[in-house]
Amino acid sequence: MQTVKTLQMLRTTLGQLRSAAGHGRARIALVPTMGALHEGHLTLVRRAREAADHVVASIFVNPRQFGPNEDLDAYPRQLAEDAAMLEAEGVAVLWAPTPEAMYPAGFATNISVAGVSDGLCGAARPGHFDGVATVVCKLFNQVQPDMAFFGEKDFQQLAVIRTMARDLDLTHPHVDAIIGVPTMREADGLAMSSRNRYLTPEQRTAAAVLPEALAMAAQTIAAGDQPIWLAKSVVEDELQLAGFRLDYIAVVDAETLAPIEELAGRPARILVAARIGTTRLIDNMAIVPRD
Ligand code: PAF
Repeated sequence: MQTVKTLQMLRTTLGQLRSAAGHGRARIALVPTMGALHEGHLTLVRRAREAADHVVASIFVNPRQFGPNEDLDAYPRQLAEDAAMLEAEGVAVLWAPTPEAMYPAGFATNISVAGVSDGLCGAARPGHFDGVATVVCKLFNQVQPDMAFFGEKDFQQLAVIRTMARDLDLTHPHVDAIIGVPTMREADGLAMSSRNRYLTPEQRTAAAVLPEALAMAAQTIAAGDQPIWLAKSVVEDELQLAGFRLDYIAVVDAETLAPIEELAGRPARILVAARIGTTRLIDNMAIVPRD
């Protein structure tokens, strides 16, 4: 695996990779990350390896997606450890730019995806999805991958990225496919996240209520056993009892993320964000109506 830190080096390395395929143009998959890797990220890498000739993983703690009250400096950084994990998974190139390489002096562009960015996590974290859209657009242009892999755990992020790529014509012939990979979960169902490391043992035990309550709500809504408003209020009560402070619970159209009051034959999703202690956890699940 080659670790590259400048754009010039990245272009040279990718040029070599693409031309060394021997059977036409090699297909390159991009797995963007902010490091602090766990099994969820490694699953993205494995899926990418199955689908492409070469995998490029990026590690960049993107300052533009952190709000003024979010501690950018405290975000875990463990480049050597992460690089070893990526190498063991067969990643060809690790793109690890410095903040100056990503945002040189005078950088003045912001990408803002209206609508999908606004509610849910966007309401609690103003500007967050602008930062995500801007850096992912840059990553797509830098790597020009044939496909890119993102976790469904950050469901709103995935919707923002898909909309941005569609609107800015970054899809075919550039990023042919933006692939959402189902959330990896711990044995008790808690979605894997680099934030789980901040939970105390008691909070970690209580946190299992989050996926449990969400799965129950998704099932009862899908079965038509409860109206959406009631299922959401049951989740709210269960989370409160387990010691969470709810940020939001929403049932939305899976594509537009517009809130819905009842299922209308289109894919729907239930999403939640809640704090336990000082840690904010998010999760979401598909609502699959029974035939
Ligand atoms: O999901 C993440 O790790 C980040 O938001 C991403 C997509 C790498 C952009 O910085």
